[in-house]
Amino acid sequence: MSEQRQPVGVIGVGWVGLVTAACFAELGHRVVARDIVPEKVAALSRGESTFHEPGLAEMLRRNAERIDFTTEMPELLEGARLLFVCVDTPPTYSGDADLSRVRSVVEELGADSDHVLVMKSTVPAGTGESIRRDRPGLPYVSCPEFLKEGTAVTDFMNPDRVVIGADPGDEAAGDAVAALYQPLGGEILRTDVSSAEMIKLASNAFLATKISFINEIANVCEEVGADVGEVARGMGLDQRIGPAFLRAGIGYGGSCFPKDVSALKMLAGNTGYHFQLLNSVIEVNELQKRRVVGKLQKHLGSLTGKRIALLGLAFKPDTDDMREASSLVLASRLQGEGAEVVAYDPVAGEAAAALLDSVEMAGSTLDAVEGADAAVLVTEWSEFAELDWAAVAERMARPLLIDGRNALDPEKLRGAGFQYEGIGQSVDDRRISASSVARVQSTPHSLRP
Ligand code: UGA
Repeated sequence: MSEQRQPVGVIGVGWVGLVTAACFAELGHRVVARDIVPEKVAALSRGESTFHEPGLAEMLRRNAERIDFTTEMPELLEGARLLFVCVDTPPTYSGDADLSRVRSVVEELGADSDHVLVMKSTVPAGTGESIRRDRPGLPYVSCPEFLKEGTAVTDFMNPDRVVIGADPGDEAAGDAVAALYQPLGGEILRTDVSSAEMIKLASNAFLATKISFINEIANVCEEVGADVGEVARGMGLDQRIGPAFLRAGIGYGGSCFPKDVSALKMLAGNTGYHFQLLNSVIEVNELQKRRVVGKLQKHLGSLTGKRIALLGLAFKPDTDDMREASSLVLASRLQGEGAEVVAYDPVAGEAAAALLDSVEMAGSTLDAVEGADAAVLVTEWSEFAELDWAAVAERMARPLLIDGRNALDPEKLRGAGFQYEGIGQSVDDRRISASSVARVQSTPHSLRP
């Protein structure tokens, strides 16, 4: 068998593991994927995807012949030499990463194992070094994952970069991993294990910092009558800054940013270094999730007895993932103020219902807003941009919309009868909107008002 087509082992079929398994199969490799949860393995073996991710179910179906799912470690070890570890590393109460699942995987490998451990799970810098110390001779490669939920398959197949960390002695293992990724065409960065681990944490922490930064800029924009969308556009045109991750909103969520920012802060703290900036990134994010409550109070006064509709619940669109979703904090804050909360999410309704037991779940936007005193757009699902907003306004007791993701067109919403407020935008009409500036500029001088 050629090096290009060697079998791939995947340990843990969560988001990263299942996408990794499907994509390597798509690239023509045989894949053996192992998970300890029998129900998950049974569902996947029946050809059912275990979560919502665009393109994944089709890819799994297309490659069903090439992927075996199992709960058995011996079957995995027999089937593949390269083992991609994709188990979760959730935060502990202290904010450190919980490495117990990673440790059990290492323990499950026999002492005379000739396998290569490829760490995809996000782990604190130094983890690889400690595993190598405990298991001398076990080839170890750090290969952090940079895919985003909602675009995971495309991200995997079109990487900006592939980071491969291998320490002296493990160069051949690093080469084998590099060969697997080579057909994807992204830049392959070869480095040492600790640096690879830091690249992952630093990248997520930097992106989270960008979001908290633009959210603070948004809050200042509201005070001075500027528009954060325009500010971000102007900033993003500077190539040193770039336009990505400058969308202001009600804070970042998900299974990665909150966990990884806190893990990096703790990692630094454990070495005696106080990572001051990250404390602010976290604090700004927490406060941002609560700002919508203040906006609603500004318009409605006391929220006691008010009916508030949340549109979108997942931590971002195109996923049913509710982990650390801003909607969880928002719903509980609103209920804490005495509001009656009703919610609709196109995909995450079921996952959300399990976490938000006192929130009424609606089957559509129109059902959710029936008789509501306000609606809050929490997750920017594309179906919300395409709604007949005049019909939505008619259903509401008061057509007030707080757009927590600046996903809708303010002029269109106001035209549909809404009192509309976004994040970091001027709330009254004194400010000349960007589109009217563009219109004035393209109008001959003689015709200008
Ligand atoms: C993030 C990283 O973007 C991936 O590169 C990384 O691989 C992944 O974590 C991980 O460590 O596994 P993900 O959590 O799937 O990916 O989602 P993102 O698209 O990064 O969004 C995270 C949160 O930030 C969402 O709540 C989103 O709404 C928010 N966000 C994002 C903003 O508020 N503003 C932005 O401009 C961008």
